[in-house]
Amino acid sequence: MIRYSRAFFELQWQFAERVAAMSGVPCEQALLHYTNFYIRFGLGREFDTNHPVWRIYIDGLSNAAEPVEWSWRFFLTRPHVPPPLLVATFGCFSFSNAGNDAIRLHFANTESHDCSPLSSERIGARRAELRALFDHVERIRQTRRAIQRVLGTSWLYNLPAYRRLFPSGYIDTARELSSRFQSMSLWGQFLDRHGNVRPDMRALFLERLARQTGVHEIAQCFPLRALAVDAPIALFEGFYDVC
Ligand SMILES: CC(C)(COP(=O)(O)OP(=O)(O)OC[C@H]1O[C@@H](n2cnc3c(N)ncnc32)[C@H](O)[C@@H]1OP(=O)(O)O)[C@@H](O)C(=O)NCCC(=O)NCCS
Repeated sequence: MIRYSRAFFELQWQFAERVAAMSGVPCEQALLHYTNFYIRFGLGREFDTNHPVWRIYIDGLSNAAEPVEWSWRFFLTRPHVPPPLLVATFGCFSFSNAGNDAIRLHFANTESHDCSPLSSERIGARRAELRALFDHVERIRQTRRAIQRVLGTSWLYNLPAYRRLFPSGYIDTARELSSRFQSMSLWGQFLDRHGNVRPDMRALFLERLARQTGVHEIAQCFPLRALAVDAPIALFEGFYDVC
């Protein structure tokens, strides 16, 4: 399981601080709406400013000498919470229910050795995981024919190293999503496989952030966009058998 670094929280903190300064919203609101903190603390997707655990975090901030340190330490005390409606996990991939007729794919690095999960050496392993995942979905479909579509939302769909794992018809449906500021589908681009922040991405982001004069175009600070894909499950039938 990836262990998110202090630097990952610091980067998001810097973003929220800048948003608060430019827009005039309280820092607490900027942290809620412009960072992945709420989800990382395992509080779900409601973004409820009155959630008791969120209140403990916010109250602690007012006494914290080092707010970033407090945020990261607070995260370390929190249990890992899987994505909502998660059904099953196969190595780096998992899927959840996404309404009656769809499943949603998720990706997280679960490799035990120091090799990128997206490297060419590991393509076979990733495809084997996806084959097992779709075999599992196929077994579910024998009783629940309603599952017809496969969805995904991630910055990862920008990367050739990720795109090559899927049928091209699925990748072809990719479209940009404008604001995913609370989600790993946007913030994940700053991480390497160890949970550290990538220096090149960080530098580019902070340079763009420093040049921003208003929140209107703030999404432009992110080097990569979150992309949403949505395709018929039929595209996956047999795809991993021949790879
Ligand atoms: C995906 C992840 C494991 C990649 O980290 P890594 O293995 O250390 O990355 P590497 O530098 O070894 O790169 C592997 C490949 O991905 C590309 N890549 C990885 N991160 C990149 C980034 N931020 N921007 C551009 N390319 C990137 C590399 O160019 C390389 O491709 P190549 O083999 O074609 O050259 C890491 O970013 C991660 O764990 N992120 C969080 C998980 C996540 O975002 N999940 C999605 C939630 S929706």
